[in-house]
Amino acid sequence: MGFKICGTGSSVPETVVTNNDLTAFLDTSDEWIKTRTGICERRVMKSETLLDLAEKASLEAMRSAGLMSSDIDMIIISSLQGDFISPSMCCLLSAKLGINCTHMFDINMGCSGFIFALDMADSYLTAKKATAVLIVCAEGMSRMTDWTDRKTCILFGDAAGAVICVPGDGCIDLSLNIKGSYEHLYVGRSPNNSPFEQTEEYPPFLHMNGQEIYKFAVEAITNDIQRLLDKNAMTPNDIAYFFIHQANMRIIDSARQKLGQPEDKFPHNLEFYGNTSSASIPLLLDEINRAGLLEKDDRILLSAFGSGLTTSACILNWSF
Ligand code: UT7
Repeated sequence: MGFKICGTGSSVPETVVTNNDLTAFLDTSDEWIKTRTGICERRVMKSETLLDLAEKASLEAMRSAGLMSSDIDMIIISSLQGDFISPSMCCLLSAKLGINCTHMFDINMGCSGFIFALDMADSYLTAKKATAVLIVCAEGMSRMTDWTDRKTCILFGDAAGAVICVPGDGCIDLSLNIKGSYEHLYVGRSPNNSPFEQTEEYPPFLHMNGQEIYKFAVEAITNDIQRLLDKNAMTPNDIAYFFIHQANMRIIDSARQKLGQPEDKFPHNLEFYGNTSSASIPLLLDEINRAGLLEKDDRILLSAFGSGLTTSACILNWSF
């Protein structure tokens, strides 16, 4: 693989919604949410747009990389739903940041979007079609959550995480898997307004069968990680940190136990932000990077799963 990450950034909305805040309109409790998920609070957009979050995360990532807008020649945005259906978020962000480039697109690969975007950045950098790729995962989960459904709305939050990728040897290996199923996890769309359409309508909210996704997640994470390590003749002990998609602390713990690893190798921040879909790993990566916890040449492993159904994993050689 031919890329390395040379800068990280993130941004979350100002408004904090605690578990107790949710009890004002939901039949739930702080105790239930904490015990079943590990989540204590999440951030939700009030006056911010998704573009505001994406812009702030991008500026931080560029600052951390020591690059300016004029140095960036490709943008990839991962988002389940931008501020508009059209124009895409990458077009809006490029205008806001004054980035002039032709290679840019939005992808919608659910919670796995960050690692899918890393794979695409790698392809463009290796093909020399780009020299500095800005990846931004910007997710407005509060907009698509059914706030009357206590089984799902307690889980999610809004955030943006960004990285800059440049040519280099910072990625040891990467794997992507797609199952192609919407049975247990989907977000519907606004009602059909065509007088001709006769297909089934799905409510414009996130629908999830939590137990099925839980089982899928635990198995997928463990298998993806073990396969990737085996393929590269490595063991879990060779990895400094495992960055697992921040969906549920029980899922992360279960994977950790199966891999026989100590708690301090599995950083987490879902207690403060909930599940922020594809933003979750770059948000955590930025937090840990800024805290100075990553050493040059640390091997770190990223693993995500989500709607699609998709799973993805990646071993990085931390390079700055
Ligand atoms: O990024 C997308 C990936 N998504 C995920 O990773 C989600 C994976 N799934 C999960 O994290 C868990 O399945 C949940 C946290 C969603 C649910 O936890 P669970 O332990 O699987 O609970 P459950 O769905 O089996 O529900 C247990 C009970 C039920 O009551 P009964 O039927 O036993 O009387 C639910 O009605 O808990 C009830 N319940 C709640 N109670 C209080 C469900 N949601 C709540 C709630 N507050 N918010």
